[in-house]
Amino acid sequence: MPKPQDGHEGWDEYAPFYDWENAQTLGRRDVKFWRTLARRTGGPVLELGCGTGRVTLPVARTGVSLVGLDRSWPMLDRARQRKRRTRLRTLSLARGDIRALPFADASFRMVMAPYGVLQSLLRERDLTETLASVARVLEQGGRFAIDLVSDVPSWQEYDGHRSLRGELSHGVHVTLVESVRQDRRRRLTMFEQDYIERRGRRRIHHRFALTFRTLSIRQMTSRLERAGFQVTAVLGDYDGRPWHPEADAWIILATRG
Ligand SMILES: C[S@@+](CC[C@H](N)C(=O)[O-])C[C@H]1O[C@@H](n2cnc3c(N)ncnc32)[C@H](O)[C@@H]1O
Repeated sequence: MPKPQDGHEGWDEYAPFYDWENAQTLGRRDVKFWRTLARRTGGPVLELGCGTGRVTLPVARTGVSLVGLDRSWPMLDRARQRKRRTRLRTLSLARGDIRALPFADASFRMVMAPYGVLQSLLRERDLTETLASVARVLEQGGRFAIDLVSDVPSWQEYDGHRSLRGELSHGVHVTLVESVRQDRRRRLTMFEQDYIERRGRRRIHHRFALTFRTLSIRQMTSRLERAGFQVTAVLGDYDGRPWHPEADAWIILATRG
């Protein structure tokens, strides 16, 4: 297995393809869940790793005050373009690292970590720093909501598999050729991606890797408790049903003690 990078790497290169790939996988399945939770909890809300704004914009449209934070400029640029098309005054987007949140103590009522954002933390130290940072910026009794992508560790290993193909934008065709490696001892999954873009006769390769670390629900809840959170619910889907080992979604709701 090639040496895993830092978990924030790969996203800059992925940015032009993220929404296209996503529309064919998760799509908007989780969006209603986040909108409802944010509206019920109330703002200000901080979204960790807001990316291209897939969840950010719909949540901000509920009227809740929201800050989206991401480390990747190209991902954030796409969120900014989406924001420009709206008149949302209650949304701000910021660049920063979730391991050292650039906000004052107790400045948020809720922190949300959608779509496996915490799985980009590849070392135990990264997770410890992030949980401490979230605990610091949340007000007492504030809510921390996490969604982990459950199927990453069970992904079959393969080499050079053509996994997606289609039109990226008008006249631009793209094929994704992907390799997957599992390092079960370290709980790491590495996706090596080669997006091949065809513009007429030209072919352009965009190669990068993304690595994820997936802890079990039990491991994640114990890390949360150690960081001073109380776990209030573990859900297994976006309709709020309880978690079970075969559940599609791994959603943890916690409050800061
Ligand atoms: C799976 S995407 C999720 C994007 C968005 N929340 C969504 O649901 O579509 C993960 C995002 O986390 C960001 N990210 C990864 N590590 C980060 C870090 N250490 N600090 C800030 N952002 C990070 C990546 O740049 C990427 O945009």
